[in-house]
Amino acid sequence: MYILGIESSCDESAASVLKASGQKTEILSNIISSQIDIHAQYGGVIPEIAAREHVLNILPTIEEALRQAKISAKNLKAIAVTQGPGLLSSLIAGVETAKSLSLAWGKPIIPVHHIIGHIYANFINTNKQPQFPLLALVVSGGHSNIIYMSDHYQFKIIGETRDDAAGEAYDKAAKMMGLSYPGGPIVAKHAEEFRQSGKSSIIELPRPMIYSPDFNFSFSGLKTALLYQLQKDKNWKDKISEYCFAFEQAIIETLSHKIIKAAKKYPVKSILLAGGVAANKALRLQLETEISEKLPKIRLSLPNLSYTTDNAAMIASAGYFNYYKHKNKSFVDLAKINARCDLKM
Ligand code: KG4
Ligand code: ZN
Repeated sequence: MYILGIESSCDESAASVLKASGQKTEILSNIISSQIDIHAQYGGVIPEIAAREHVLNILPTIEEALRQAKISAKNLKAIAVTQGPGLLSSLIAGVETAKSLSLAWGKPIIPVHHIIGHIYANFINTNKQPQFPLLALVVSGGHSNIIYMSDHYQFKIIGETRDDAAGEAYDKAAKMMGLSYPGGPIVAKHAEEFRQSGKSSIIELPRPMIYSPDFNFSFSGLKTALLYQLQKDKNWKDKISEYCFAFEQAIIETLSHKIIKAAKKYPVKSILLAGGVAANKALRLQLETEISEKLPKIRLSLPNLSYTTDNAAMIASAGYFNYYKHKNKSFVDLAKINARCDLKM
C-alpha cells in the first residue's frame, strides 16, 4: 500500500510517499521545502512568516512527492498528517490541506503526533527494525523525551525536559556566540574542529540533573552557565570552537548518561535515537560506544540522516504503523481532526 505523509509543524513544508507491506517500508519520495534561509535572518522561526510560506509551498511539495514517487492520488491508501504539537499556524496549513485532499480524493486521514513521527523514522527502509520492548530518546528543537514502548503504538513517557529541549539549547547557545540559526549543525561543526585539534578543554560546564533519580532533563541552566562563562572571558571570541565543544560534551554526556540509566531500570531489547539532534555525529558515536560497552545485549538504532530533522517520510511511516496495528481504526473522522499545538501523546 502507499501512504502520503504531510508535515508542516514548524518551518519545513514536507511531503513523502511511503510504500509498505507487512513490516517492510520503503520511501519513494521525500520532499522538503525548507524555510531556514528566511528565518535565519531573524535568528529563529517567525510563526507568521512560517504560516504564509506553508500556504505557498505545501501543495507544490505534495505534487512533487507524488510525481517523484510516480504515484497518482488514486493509488494512495491514506493520508498521514502531523496534527501536533508544533506552531499552531504552521500545523493548520498541513492539516487543512490534508482534509481538503481527503475530501477531493476520497482517501482517509491518519493524524500523527509529531514526536511519534520522529520515533518511526527508525522504522524506515531497514532490515534491522528496532525490537520491542524499546526505549526511544527523542531529542529535537521542541522536545527531549525518553519514551518506553512495549509494542507498536504503545507509549509511556518516562522522562522529559523540565525547561528547554536539547535542540533549543543548541540554538540558544549558538545565538549567544553570534552563530547562525539553526544552532545545532554549526555548534557541532565548531565542536568537531576542536575535537580534531587534539587539544583538551579547560572550560567546565554542568551536566544538568545527572544525579537526579528520575529520567528528566533540564538544559536551561546549562545555557545560563555558558552565558556566565562567556561574560567572564574577554577572549571568548577567539575560543568559539572550544566553547562549542564544551557545550556539546555537556549535552551528549547528559543524554547518554540518562538513557543508559533508563535502560538499566527498564529491560529493553533496543534503544533508538530520534529528532533533529539525532543528526549529531558526536552524540551518535557516544551512544554507540557507551551502549556497546555498558549494555552489549541492547541494539542501538540510529535513524538515517535524511530522516532526523523534520520530514514527512517519518510521518508516513508513523501513519503506516498506526494502520498496521489498528487497521481502519487509525482513520479519523475529518470533523474530528484539528491542528493542536499542545497535542498529548
Ligand atoms: O526535529 P527538528 O527538525 O524540529 C523539531 O521538531 O523541533 O529538530 C530541530 C533541532 C534544532 O534545534 C537544531 O538545532 C537541531 O535539531 N539540530 C542539531 C543538529 N542538526 C539539527 N543539533 C545538534 N547537532 C546537529 N547536527
Ligand atoms: Zn521535529
